[in-house]
Amino acid sequence: MLKKSLKDLSVDHQKILMRVDLNLPLDPEGVIANDHRLQEALLTIKYLLEKDCAIILMSHLNRPKGKFESKLSLKVCAQRLNTLLNKEVKMAPDCIGEEVNTLKESLKCGEILMLENLRFHSEETNGSGEDFAKELSKGCDIFINDAFGCCHRNQASIVDVPKFFPQKAVAGLLLEKELRYFQDYILNPQKHLCAIIGGAKISTKIGVLKSLIQKVDTLLIGGAMANTFLKAQGRSLGKSLVEDEYIQAAKEILKECESKRINLVLPQDLLFTDQISSDGQTQILGINDPIEEHLIAVDMGPLTIDAFSKALEPSQIIFWNGPLGICEIKPFSYGTQKIAQKLSQINAIKVIGGGDSAAAIEKLGLQDSFDHISTGGGASIELIEKGHLPGVNALSNKD
Ligand code: ADP
Ligand code: 3PG
Ligand code: MG
Repeated sequence: MLKKSLKDLSVDHQKILMRVDLNLPLDPEGVIANDHRLQEALLTIKYLLEKDCAIILMSHLNRPKGKFESKLSLKVCAQRLNTLLNKEVKMAPDCIGEEVNTLKESLKCGEILMLENLRFHSEETNGSGEDFAKELSKGCDIFINDAFGCCHRNQASIVDVPKFFPQKAVAGLLLEKELRYFQDYILNPQKHLCAIIGGAKISTKIGVLKSLIQKVDTLLIGGAMANTFLKAQGRSLGKSLVEDEYIQAAKEILKECESKRINLVLPQDLLFTDQISSDGQTQILGINDPIEEHLIAVDMGPLTIDAFSKALEPSQIIFWNGPLGICEIKPFSYGTQKIAQKLSQINAIKVIGGGDSAAAIEKLGLQDSFDHISTGGGASIELIEKGHLPGVNALSNKD
């Protein structure tokens, strides 16, 4: 990596300002539904504790619009960190201001302070955050960005804070690991690369698809994403989710896959329902069968599961983004489940991107059979699409 990383600096006994991505999913009661991002941040936090650093953590949580909202306080993350480390995590009442400065000053080596939600201040997101960033950086010796999931955002804590740490704005261990997986295996694959792309909308992933077809040997398209491709091939799909304005883009991708001799696999059969609920009447239909107007495609059928499974076999690197059906609803989760199980048995480097895909794999308890489950959905997509991220560009260059 051309950017400085944590291990390029001597950090012993330093006061560290660290941007983490603690934008964790909360359930309606405000309880953390999944702490994957926090677990992954432990790598750097533990390293800094070993070096006897004073650690100041900052993050956003969800999208408050520049004012305090008690249900979006980072207190819940501070408490979970406290439990995971079995160590006190002090909670600041805000992320900037006199009181926070005093807390920062009095923080001793080996102690941890969590700043309050950055997005309680509109300066974090409104594009004019330099003064805010200067306030955040007060009293700290080194800045570490370990928030891979936020590196695609041009926001104060990501792109402005580094300006106040010349030569000392570095990538944390998680950020470094994320970049290594994407750069070495997806952006510059040296071996047979297969991408499985699913999820709800082609519109959010068109850029990543265009970039991936420059890299992959095999491309499997499922989920609602596949519907637009099937429609582009002239098939009718009843009431299934199709983005008509992307049919032309889908046609171009199909053409390019052909000219590049990419092994493109689209669904051959689908599970249809008459309503998106577990009470729906379902039936499996081939893509050439007549599809009644009221039916909705919600999962792949057995022929497709077989075709995907076979196509996966020669792969040495596999990147998966996007569930292959409406996997939140049990009767529509079979395809996602079968492909996750197949992947768990394949000997390849396996990388998952996307919050919903990661959640589906964790729900199946298969997370340990993957090499890397990215903490960034939007960030990983933008990295694949553009090859770089603003948050990484903002860090200090290696000497
Ligand atoms: P990720 O978060 O992994 O990037 P996305 O956000 O792109 O994934 O897509 C996840 C969503 O896609 C899920 O909510 C899932 O229900 C939806 N989805 C998958 N297949 C279909 C389908 N056939 N019809 C409608 N929605 C679908
Ligand atoms: C994410 O959850 O993708 C990151 O934390 C970024 O959050 P945002 O999409 O609200 O900027
Ligand atoms: Mg998602």
